[in-house]
Amino acid sequence: MDKTKLGADAFLYPMPVSLVGAMVEKRPNFLTVAFCGIMNPHPPIIYVALNKAHYTNAGIKENSTFSVNLPSAEMVRIADYCGLVSGRETDKSEQFQVFFGELNTAPMIADCPLSMECRLLQILDFKMDEVFIGEIWQTYSEEKFLSEGLPDPRKMDLMALTLHDNNYWRLGEKLGRAWRIGKTLKEETCR
Ligand SMILES: Cc1cc2nc3c(=O)[nH]c(=O)nc-3n(C[C@H](O)[C@H](O)[C@H](O)COP(=O)(O)O)c2cc1C
Repeated sequence: MDKTKLGADAFLYPMPVSLVGAMVEKRPNFLTVAFCGIMNPHPPIIYVALNKAHYTNAGIKENSTFSVNLPSAEMVRIADYCGLVSGRETDKSEQFQVFFGELNTAPMIADCPLSMECRLLQILDFKMDEVFIGEIWQTYSEEKFLSEGLPDPRKMDLMALTLHDNNYWRLGEKLGRAWRIGKTLKEETCR
């Protein structure tokens, strides 16, 4: 085995692409976020790691709410744009049809196949970044993105990101059912 050391870096591949929303100075603002993940399933707890320099952070702190919107692959250009310009200089909300849910202050993007509105629970303070931890309060989608009442990855056509080469990708083919495809191996080894 001849392994090459790549160093201590964020090589978790692939990463999600999300548009995180907050009301900043009474205006909806959205930024592109890859450092986002689920910390606990029940209750559903999500984190987003934001650089302290970003305009959005103040709005999350002010309202104690934020949204996590998953853009479809056809939204790739607008998703990238939200990561290139700051709400400090440009009103990015003009690019979207915005809606609000039960928490009233977490702006969400109508065109995204899935939007989660979140209630801020905690902020972790790192040197350059702050990690916003929130409870997913409600989730919004549309019938056209669902199969049997649940989000269908093929219908949502979401994006993934690989860091370091900085590329967006579409999901590839389905490999098998989770908690099922390993069952035959389990049966062989657990005799
Ligand atoms: C693909 C992509 C992923 C990004 N992921 C993050 C991230 O996870 N955390 C972060 O703080 N900034 C991330 N950014 C940078 C912010 O989206 C960008 O600086 C944005 O303009 C900040 O907007 P704001 O000042 O309106 O809040 C990412 C940008 C791109 C293009």
